[in-house]
Amino acid sequence: MGEFITRVVAIDPAAPDRTTIAEAASIIRAGQLVAFPTETVYGLGADGLNPIALRRIYTVKGRPPDNPLILHLASRDQLPLVAADVPAIAQRLVQAFWPGPLTLILPKTSCVPDLATAGLTTVAVRMPAHPVALALINAAKTPLAAPSANRSGLPSPTTAQHAFDDLRRRIPLILDAGPTRIGLESTVLDVTCIPPIILRPGGIAREAIEAVVGDLQEVMNMAQRQRSPGTRYRHYSPRARVWLVEDAQAETLQATVAKALQHSKRVGCLLHRLEPHHLPPLVEVIHISGSMADYAQGLFAALRGLDGLGLDVIVVEGVQEQGLGVAVMDRLRRAASPPSPSPGFTE
Ligand code: TXA
Ligand code: MG
Repeated sequence: MGEFITRVVAIDPAAPDRTTIAEAASIIRAGQLVAFPTETVYGLGADGLNPIALRRIYTVKGRPPDNPLILHLASRDQLPLVAADVPAIAQRLVQAFWPGPLTLILPKTSCVPDLATAGLTTVAVRMPAHPVALALINAAKTPLAAPSANRSGLPSPTTAQHAFDDLRRRIPLILDAGPTRIGLESTVLDVTCIPPIILRPGGIAREAIEAVVGDLQEVMNMAQRQRSPGTRYRHYSPRARVWLVEDAQAETLQATVAKALQHSKRVGCLLHRLEPHHLPPLVEVIHISGSMADYAQGLFAALRGLDGLGLDVIVVEGVQEQGLGVAVMDRLRRAASPPSPSPGFTE
């Protein structure tokens, strides 16, 4: 892997500077990588039709080779380039949710290299709702393959600093448009089957999708899970152990914190609805109050922040699995896996 001086260049999301975009696009066209903002998380972008560039993504991230990538488009019209068939149900979803955090799994065209799909006959596609992402795709004149711009196994980056922390010296350029609005990755929906099935919960809630296309398939069995290779891996995991308080009750939280303090003095806590003042003194308590969207937006940054303190245990408040809460709990459980030693919380 080449050694780079990684430049972080600020860019205004309201009016992306043309020269900066042109430079980023020329790096992409040359087969190199650029980290850029989307509305969900920062992406590590490469020319999605260039196998050499695609291979770099796997090397730079340390990503398992059987975990396929998402191709990012700048317009709905580019879909036929990469998708061999767009069923009526997919067209309705595109109309309803693009640009936005919905990734569709569709049959691929022969244009799409095997490295983008990890050899699958389907391709993941989305159109991001971020002016910088759209300007970059347009200027590069190619679909951008872009996984989250983190090293494999760490929480996804919601700021340019997170991407820099993980990818410094591995890529030449990071475009910095500030913290991402949604903070969790897109929902991945397989529309090659009827009814469609959510392979990864994300920024668009199941309820919103069902309002457009009717009932989706119920929770996956293991065979179906194999269809979204990425969901097999432990993800979003900080270095500290994460103890997840599933039931979000004050009593369970207190018991879990007490238990954590028996293990170690280096305990931190992440709260949403519960109040911090019922807790014994801890190394750090981050309280993201407000709505579920606020918790989702701040989650990965909080996990990274807490992890940077060298804690042994991070106790994290769970949420109800409704709307965006499904994606939040999915990420928290992955951060907390392997599962629970005792009832009431998972480690
Ligand atoms: O919000 C997002 O989706 C972000 C931003 C950068 O757009 N990207 C992102 O990419 O989260 P990544 O690579 O971290 O996650 C892609 C997910 C993985 O779970 C992968 O297994 C799944 O999409 N995926 C990709 N292609 C697939 C396919 N053909 N069939 C099933 N799952 C697929
Ligand atoms: Mg990722």
